[in-house]
Amino acid sequence: MSDPTPACPRNTAEFVDLTTHIGGIALDNYLFNASGPLCTSEAELTQLGHSATAAIMTKSCTILPREGNAEPRYQNLPLGALQSMGLPNLGYQAYLAMLPRLKLLNKPIVVSISGFSVTDNQTMVSAFQQSDADLIEVNFSCPNIEGKPQLGYDFEQTDQALKVLCQLGDKPIGLKLPPYFDFSHFSAMADIIKQYPISFITCINSVGNTLVIDAETESAIIKPKGGFGGLCGDYIKPIGLANVRAFSTLLPENIDIIGVGGIKNGTDAFEYLLAGASAVQVATCYEKEGVECFSRISNELATLMARKGYKTIAEVKGQLKTL
Ligand code: DHB
Repeated sequence: MSDPTPACPRNTAEFVDLTTHIGGIALDNYLFNASGPLCTSEAELTQLGHSATAAIMTKSCTILPREGNAEPRYQNLPLGALQSMGLPNLGYQAYLAMLPRLKLLNKPIVVSISGFSVTDNQTMVSAFQQSDADLIEVNFSCPNIEGKPQLGYDFEQTDQALKVLCQLGDKPIGLKLPPYFDFSHFSAMADIIKQYPISFITCINSVGNTLVIDAETESAIIKPKGGFGGLCGDYIKPIGLANVRAFSTLLPENIDIIGVGGIKNGTDAFEYLLAGASAVQVATCYEKEGVECFSRISNELATLMARKGYKTIAEVKGQLKTL
């Protein structure tokens, strides 16, 4: 008689453990939303709280509420999106006020801040250090504010800002970085980060100041900045992977790396895991699919890991083979 039991009954997705840590904060899953789409209002953040996202991440906030840039400012593309939202948000005090209610949803809360000066960032980091937030992500890489260069491309100013922002409290603080394209830039930024108690970095923000042209209408496709905007989605995944990989080889292990850029299925998440990401964030795919993407991608990642015989994130993290 043949044995009806499968040869390897434990080799199934339900036995894969996707729990992870960022800055010492436990996450019950490998993925959560990126600061970007659908995380601005309390209703959106509450909906995230009821989904399979591992954490609730807020839209980057500024000192005062902002409407953001003129429309059209977001266009879907075949393999992603081009956006120049211009930081529409409720202002940091609104997020401070809603944190106790978001906390009731029993997920870690990551607040993203994006001030226009060191003083702005100092005010907001100080406030969130005294709040219910679990992690603070400081955005040094918004490409969409006219006249405000991305701080992460200015190493001197990044250094000066970190001197101030890293002594405002004990909550883990991280940096959202722009994409870098040269090894001299990876190592210059890594050398700065290593001097401060930074708990995590998030790589990468959208690829800033790209231009998509509609040949039919002979026009740019978004209105702000003459059509220049941040490129997102599949187009930028190799850039995100390279940044995660480069920083994971340059930074000590106690600085976690969060991968973001083009994650829309379990294979994408697995690639970021191989490159060295402790967790990943989903932006464009979440905008297109809604909160269902978190459970779908987690299930796909677990299924892929089970097929390969892996049971934990730690077994795979950073294990990329080179030729
Ligand atoms: C926006 C875009 C970004 O890439 C970012 O990091 C923060 C804000 C925006 O345009 O709203």
